[in-house]
Amino acid sequence: MAVRQLAGKRILITGASSGIGRDLAIGLAAAGAAVILAARRADKLVELESEIRSTGGKAFSFAADVTSDADRTRLLADCESRLGGLDVLINNAGVGAMGRFDQADPQRLRQIFEVNFFALAELTRAALPMLKSGNDALIVNISSILGHRGAPLKSEYSASKFAVHGFSDAIRAELANDAIEVLLVSPSTTDSEFFDAAIEDDTRKDWKKGGAMSTEVVAAKTIKAMRKRRHEIILTFGGRVLVWLDRMIPGLANRIIAKFGQ
Ligand SMILES: NC(=O)c1ccc[n+]([C@@H]2O[C@H](COP(=O)([O-])OP(=O)(O)OC[C@H]3O[C@@H](n4cnc5c(N)ncnc54)[C@H](OP(=O)(O)O)[C@@H]3O)[C@@H](O)[C@H]2O)c1
Repeated sequence: MAVRQLAGKRILITGASSGIGRDLAIGLAAAGAAVILAARRADKLVELESEIRSTGGKAFSFAADVTSDADRTRLLADCESRLGGLDVLINNAGVGAMGRFDQADPQRLRQIFEVNFFALAELTRAALPMLKSGNDALIVNISSILGHRGAPLKSEYSASKFAVHGFSDAIRAELANDAIEVLLVSPSTTDSEFFDAAIEDDTRKDWKKGGAMSTEVVAAKTIKAMRKRRHEIILTFGGRVLVWLDRMIPGLANRIIAKFGQ
């Protein structure tokens, strides 16, 4: 199949106020797409909107909490009224928490799933009617390498990203006859506001000590995969090795992760 053209595409990006979402918005607008920028921090979105517009791009900001049903409905109505529909939905908004599962309040698990999974799934459900009449439609779910192999001290987050992985595989097959493609993106540790914005971190660990990808690289690789119609990408060599080891020699993978992952 021909590469996907991004120029002229109408794209909604959640979590566009910082990190990966912000760089996706800049890259996609530079490629000629019209982007709707969604997140809770309106000031950051307005700043990004002006930055994109100052370079001739097309961007519209919309303050929304993805966990709110009402906000999701208003957000999609905004896509319809401003752009006349939607071609690409990028589910990027996400939060984490670091710490032992047995010491965490059960609310932590609920909060993570509300943002990382339930909001993603429900925004997708609500966007499907528009995507079905979209042009070369695509759903991009920003997951994590921890959606392929869980890690200690990030149990709730790992579980939420496994849910995103399973959901993405299932709807990819379900939507095959509706001409809507699904891309699952699995970055490794990335240098963004993610660790500072975590709901909780009682580990005192420097999570980026082992190295981190830049948000620009994650965005560039994601945009390349969108163009090439990939279904799934794991962004680092280390991530691919981890997935291979976990499938082929799970006992060894477990021992290594238990020893070095916490
Ligand atoms: N950083 C990493 O190491 C890493 C690794 C693998 C995968 N990822 C995934 O990559 C995605 C982007 O994360 P990032 O690294 O770019 O972190 P980030 O800079 O913290 O960005 C997270 C974005 O999500 C938004 N967000 C959080 N809760 C929201 C809510 N309830 N409603 C609307 N927006 C919300 C935040 O905006 P507001 O605060 O303005 O709402 C922000 O724009 C996430 O799904 C994350 O799980 C990150």
